[in-house]
Amino acid sequence: MGYFRENIEKVKGYEPGFQPGRADVVKLNTNENPYPPSPKVLKALAQVNAERLRRYPDPQADVFRNTAAEINGVSAENIICGNGADELLGIAMRSFCDEKRPVAYPVPTYSLYPVLAGLQDCQVIEIPFDEGFKLPAKLAKTGASLTIICNPNAPSGSFTGTDELASLASELSGVLLIDEAYVDFADENCIGLVKDFDNVIILRSMSKGYGLAGIRFGYAVGPTDLINGLMKVKDSYNVDAVSVAAAMAAIKDREYFRQVTEKVKKERTKLTDSLRQLGFEVPKSQANFVLAASKNCKASQIYDKLVERNIYVRYFDTPGLNDKLRITVGTSEQDDKLISALKEILSE
Ligand SMILES: Cc1ncc(COP(=O)(O)O)c(C=O)c1O
Repeated sequence: MGYFRENIEKVKGYEPGFQPGRADVVKLNTNENPYPPSPKVLKALAQVNAERLRRYPDPQADVFRNTAAEINGVSAENIICGNGADELLGIAMRSFCDEKRPVAYPVPTYSLYPVLAGLQDCQVIEIPFDEGFKLPAKLAKTGASLTIICNPNAPSGSFTGTDELASLASELSGVLLIDEAYVDFADENCIGLVKDFDNVIILRSMSKGYGLAGIRFGYAVGPTDLINGLMKVKDSYNVDAVSVAAAMAAIKDREYFRQVTEKVKKERTKLTDSLRQLGFEVPKSQANFVLAASKNCKASQIYDKLVERNIYVRYFDTPGLNDKLRITVGTSEQDDKLISALKEILSE
């Protein structure tokens, strides 16, 4: 018998997208924002003093909870902060799932979910999306303790409307967690469901729309009873003082956020059109990436040839995705470089 619990031995571990050591590459593989965070973030960081670092941070990051509550039209008691949205996913899995309490989600989706379930040793119910990434009806009937819907979904970029998720929430006996990590680039969000249902949690990330993947900050919004329960499971000081200062400055700068997300959305349309012109099949995306299916050339080959040119996109060697490339929307310059490289590769 090994040192680890059996389920830990079995889990493969999450494989994060490749982080190239060099800066002079076109990096479109991990859905970061191509633009820096608000200049107010750097100012706030410069004001972090030694005294702030000497002390433990506020255990619940109340300054952030208050501001995020105001922006989202809820109360501070409806919010829990986390060291990235990923940490909150882990907390949710530990709170709601065990050997007798399964997690369910439609696939393909964010590849961290099964890893967290494996660590928690809970049963996983994976239900394939219907054609066109439509929510499968069976999802309402799994009996799972936790159902996760990534919305917009990764890696498809597809979006399920609020009405459909409301009817799912009303049918489920367990908790519905809507992972809105990419919602900053979508036309709508589902925050309103928190007021209407006692079993809905909305998850948000500061890594995408706010360009803060480097500091690790996310938050979840939900009914007070659920948030209080999640609070018991988190580490005492799960978000540090430096991250709170950065996240606060970023979320408060609404105008900068609006400008950046609009730029990404505009560029997403241009990138989608250019890829379609090259013969890729690209469904409409509501996120800061697109999923491009290659009809004429193997996606894995295109991926390798892009790497030779120092261009990184994401390739998943899994059923349903291995003929596709997930491409983060970059700056106009980065996307132009990608498109010219693809032109070259496809004409070889
Ligand atoms: C669907 C989804 N949820 C959550 C996260 C995690 O976000 P964070 O960087 O805030 O941990 C990611 C990160 O890529 C993601 O793709």
